[in-house]
Amino acid sequence: MSTTLIAGSDGLVIAWPDGTSGTFPYIWLRDTDPSGFHPDTGERAFELTSVPLDIAPCHAQIDGDDLFVTWPEADGPSRFDLAWIKAHRPGQKRADPAAVEPVIWRSELGGDSVPRHRADVVLSGDPGLQTWLEDTKRYGLTILTGLADTSEAGMEVARKVGHLRETNFGLTFEVMSKPNPNNLAYTADALPLHTDLTNQELPPGYQFLHCLANEAKGGGSTFCDGVAVAEDLRERDVDAFNILASVTVPFRFHDEDTDIRFRKTVITLDDDGSVSEICFNAHLADIVDLEPEEMTAFYRAYRLFMEMTRDAAYGIALRLCGGEMVVFDNRRVLHGRQAFDPSTGFRHLHGCYVDRGEWDSRLRVLARDTGG
Ligand code: OGA
Ligand code: ZN
Repeated sequence: MSTTLIAGSDGLVIAWPDGTSGTFPYIWLRDTDPSGFHPDTGERAFELTSVPLDIAPCHAQIDGDDLFVTWPEADGPSRFDLAWIKAHRPGQKRADPAAVEPVIWRSELGGDSVPRHRADVVLSGDPGLQTWLEDTKRYGLTILTGLADTSEAGMEVARKVGHLRETNFGLTFEVMSKPNPNNLAYTADALPLHTDLTNQELPPGYQFLHCLANEAKGGGSTFCDGVAVAEDLRERDVDAFNILASVTVPFRFHDEDTDIRFRKTVITLDDDGSVSEICFNAHLADIVDLEPEEMTAFYRAYRLFMEMTRDAAYGIALRLCGGEMVVFDNRRVLHGRQAFDPSTGFRHLHGCYVDRGEWDSRLRVLARDTGG
């Protein structure tokens, strides 16, 4: 059996011998002509408005492994590799090596079972880097061990992934109890489970917290998987879930130099309706400015989510030691810490962020190198 072509009413129908078939609208075929992409950069160079929306080919034929389509206005025919066009048939999403299936976790995971990776293995590149990147994306949380006792050691790992995300707290930030703090993290207070910088237009993706010292009494770390909380809320109270996925909360951070505000829903869904992001920070929520008639339902949903983040069913606790670095998806996994007593010892974390897009890009490039 050979590959066949039929001029259908919605476009060219291609049927492959293995039973796969695809409908290729003519405007799509014209727009996707490989010669319409820049030979060096790979960017689309074809001017879409130069052809009519109802363009139709004069002729289409298969020759060997290629499909040739002749157009009324073009100098030569478009040439498509049949295997390539099959992989890209309309409705088929492009394969993505960065699409790691998440493992949703609850308190049963336990602090001791958070995946741990050795920093020297990650820093040595493939395959340690790729394995760690995938694991961190899968669980939203890993711990790197054996980091050098320098403030650059964490950044060195972060830079293996991509560009650091600079914020109003700097390219990196020092988490320690400081005089005149502009952020609760810079006190010795407990921090309830939260995501960072919810007041930003794009809250940072992955967060790196390298522990340089944790000698004070207290100061344990806490985490929960925000996707687990949100998915359980959907089961338990779909009205509350829908409110948190649709009503935007005003968030604000301001100090002497800045006044950074943005509105975000607590829960963000992807195109398939799965929870893709959590934005939750009680300390950065600004004055709630909803319409009076929306308030009670909103507060009911928001408090329910807040209570769930504090439910023992979700949280895990661990104590970071000097030389360890926790790395987590700040837009999925909530983090917090227990209060500490600075008079009993020094506690110092060094932090930075790398956005999700950088993470995914590195995963794709590493997969390219390993033929994935
Ligand atoms: C932070 C933070 C946690 C800690 O800096 O945003 O949450 O363990 N720190 O100090
Ligand atoms: Zn934080």
